[in-house]
Amino acid sequence: MIHSALINVMVKAARRAGRSLKRDFGEIENLQVSLKGPANFVSRADKRAEEMLYEDLSKARPGYGFLGEEGGVREGADKSHRWIVDPLDGTTNFLHGIPHFAISIGLEREGTMIAGVIYNPANEELYIAERGKGAFLNDTRLRVANRRELHDCVIGCGLPHIGRGDFAQNQREMAALQPKVAGLRRFGTASLDLGAVAAGRFDGFWERNLSPWDIAAGIVMIREAGGTVGDINGGDVLKTGDIVCGNETIHAELARILKPLS
Ligand code: IPD
Ligand code: CA
Ligand code: CA
Repeated sequence: MIHSALINVMVKAARRAGRSLKRDFGEIENLQVSLKGPANFVSRADKRAEEMLYEDLSKARPGYGFLGEEGGVREGADKSHRWIVDPLDGTTNFLHGIPHFAISIGLEREGTMIAGVIYNPANEELYIAERGKGAFLNDTRLRVANRRELHDCVIGCGLPHIGRGDFAQNQREMAALQPKVAGLRRFGTASLDLGAVAAGRFDGFWERNLSPWDIAAGIVMIREAGGTVGDINGGDVLKTGDIVCGNETIHAELARILKPLS
């Protein structure tokens, strides 16, 4: 499969940082028993991956801005382009030896997401999308699922946890949705959840309070797979992080149920 120079740059960067994360992931098991625990180690792995991504992406496209979870904003001379990067999405999975985590790289032009790469180095699943050119998982073209009835659907979601999120609101959402769907799933890596929607594995997904780096690449992935994605209340999802998506019908149905619970 031949991709654009831009996608090649993004994939190359994701694979290099991915090799580093994979090496570090291999160490986690030994560290579980160490006195300090693996948390500091993971935070170093995370930062190292982000530096590699910054190095490769800024070398290939000098001047583009860069927003990374670890390093924050790094302004560039080119104000119309910005990389939005999560060097390690699914940190809790990584820390617990669960091989479901990813590097997520999105490229924004003038406020629109135009390209995305999401890469899980543990199983080598590589999602790519470019505006107008489709979405792919390891070279297979992606299409969102076409189920139209919520009772047939598997829906992905996020769950609040200690120190984070609105528990009461989440419980209202669960109470509203659980009796209506074929199944709910919480896998713990938002970028891969969005990839799963693009791939038709999930029929839909919602989560509140996500950050731009969790969703930037996934937004273009879902759109290029023929799905729709937006904010639960109709705002700018990259700003609010309250994401809901699916095919047009399931997205609308989820939003209709979730919006009054906001
Ligand atoms: C987290 C994951 C998780 C989502 C959290 C995110 P991190 O990102 O994407 O699925 O539920 O809200 O913060 O911290 O592992 O990069
Ligand atoms: Ca994240
Ligand atoms: Ca992260």
